[in-house]
Amino acid sequence: PPRRSHSSAAQGGMQAAFGHSEMSEGDSCEEHFRDTVRGSDWGCDQDVAKLFTENAVSAVKELDAWGVPWTRISGGKNDGLIASRNFGGTAKWRTCYCADGTGHELMMTMDNKTASLKIPVFDRCEAISLIIEEGKCIGAIVMNLRDGRLIRFISKAVIIATGGFGQLFEKTTNALICDGSGPALVLNTGIGVLGNMEAVQFHPTAAVPENFLITEGCRGDGGFLLDVNLRRFMPEYEPDMMDLASRDVVARRMMQHINKDHGVDSRQGKHLWLDIRHLGKKHIEANLREVRELCVNFMKIDPVKELIPVHPAQHYSMGGIRTDINCSCGEYGIEGLFSAGEAACWDLHGFNRLGGNSLAETVVAGKIAGKNASLYAVENENTLSLNAVEMEYKKQLERIKKIENSNGKENCYLIKSEMQKALTDNAGIFRSKQGLEAGLSSLKLLYEKAHDISMKSKSSVFTTELSDALKIQGMIRNSICIAKGALLREESRGAHYREDFPLRNDKDWLKRSLFKWTNSDSNEPEVFYESVKISTYPPGDRGYGEK
Ligand code: FUM
Repeated sequence: PPRRSHSSAAQGGMQAAFGHSEMSEGDSCEEHFRDTVRGSDWGCDQDVAKLFTENAVSAVKELDAWGVPWTRISGGKNDGLIASRNFGGTAKWRTCYCADGTGHELMMTMDNKTASLKIPVFDRCEAISLIIEEGKCIGAIVMNLRDGRLIRFISKAVIIATGGFGQLFEKTTNALICDGSGPALVLNTGIGVLGNMEAVQFHPTAAVPENFLITEGCRGDGGFLLDVNLRRFMPEYEPDMMDLASRDVVARRMMQHINKDHGVDSRQGKHLWLDIRHLGKKHIEANLREVRELCVNFMKIDPVKELIPVHPAQHYSMGGIRTDINCSCGEYGIEGLFSAGEAACWDLHGFNRLGGNSLAETVVAGKIAGKNASLYAVENENTLSLNAVEMEYKKQLERIKKIENSNGKENCYLIKSEMQKALTDNAGIFRSKQGLEAGLSSLKLLYEKAHDISMKSKSSVFTTELSDALKIQGMIRNSICIAKGALLREESRGAHYREDFPLRNDKDWLKRSLFKWTNSDSNEPEVFYESVKISTYPPGDRGYGEK
């Protein structure tokens, strides 16, 4: 259902360089561009970053016209204009927001817009495979999650916008639906390509123990992190940007501090504190009310008076379905297929995404993907063959029957939690050759086991156990790509931190990893590389983090 989309959980806002707020004076698209490139640790495609930053302001304005209730500046010469708050890794206050429920407001508005334009929405329907004919995507086989029926969707162009893959990890701010199903569909074709799968972001402040997001807006508005002795520790590590260095840096510093035994013990492991009490009730009620509600309702903690227990958790997938700057997969193996948002890697974020750049990306890239998919559909003759559609439909029916009738000895939920553990333990915030090798071999073993699962429910009534069982192999394939990409990348860049290669190595690694699962009998992908476009800013010091 659109209103349950994970974008609703994006609390903090959308970066767009209006320059209205006091602390954003002099801001520009160029400044936003520079921050995005630095934030990515020079891993992004600079043409994409430029295009994005030049279109973010108009995206916010368009949403404003559609009814998104942006928080406004109150008083002063810019009274009534769209306000912006401070976010990590940015030179100016640039994140436009609706209190701390920005994603929520966006989804409501988009859903209303969709309804007003009478665009059909098939909610609770999920693609289980793409229909490919001679390198062209001509639709998808879709499962209706209400009753398990399969539907053939036939089309001239397909856009995948399924979000990220946080559910591959044990601790994530992502919803249960963020399981990487889009990249898995593409990998499964044997001809589509994923990019930078090893680039995984960990958000510094996930609530303990529930792991829901506590927005960076808390620190942007003046909140800070404390350790077990209630000591503010970030200024020691990052004297310039302190609690608001970019996410990869803050998450790493927090874990370093915990590992030095400055964390707070709890049944769920060590954590740190986030303190926003000094912001005051009035500010919290106006600008951080969703955080307050979540803390009160789920944790019985009132952040107006109490500290919030936090630790870093997986938050964002910079990698995903590789597309070009037009959001098209044509250059990467599949014509007629497009992708946008967190599912995609066009590649705006490189190895670290700045907070507030993701919600903005969904709107900017969504528009580009939509426009180009429509153009493609108009310009290309429909030569689809029903033969290919029927073949794929049959293949999926057989796949389902096989699982339903299987007496296999493995359980897909146990395999899933072992997969999450293998990835979290070995491809998390700190990575090493030894850990990644161990993680990769566990994942390969699990991949084998995933071919021998059976369902607990033997009834003919549809249960979501079937849709979970259908996904497990794809989830492990995504996980193997992450671990393999991380093992091969012998450097540290953005969120990818190798303890055995702690420095960025532009000479050998200023390149994007690409993954293709050509041989369906193999237990690992083909990995190859392409160069990263550096059209404006040559690699330099980020100004924060390890030098
Ligand atoms: O912290 C946050 O509000 C997250 C925002 C984002 O990931 O862009």
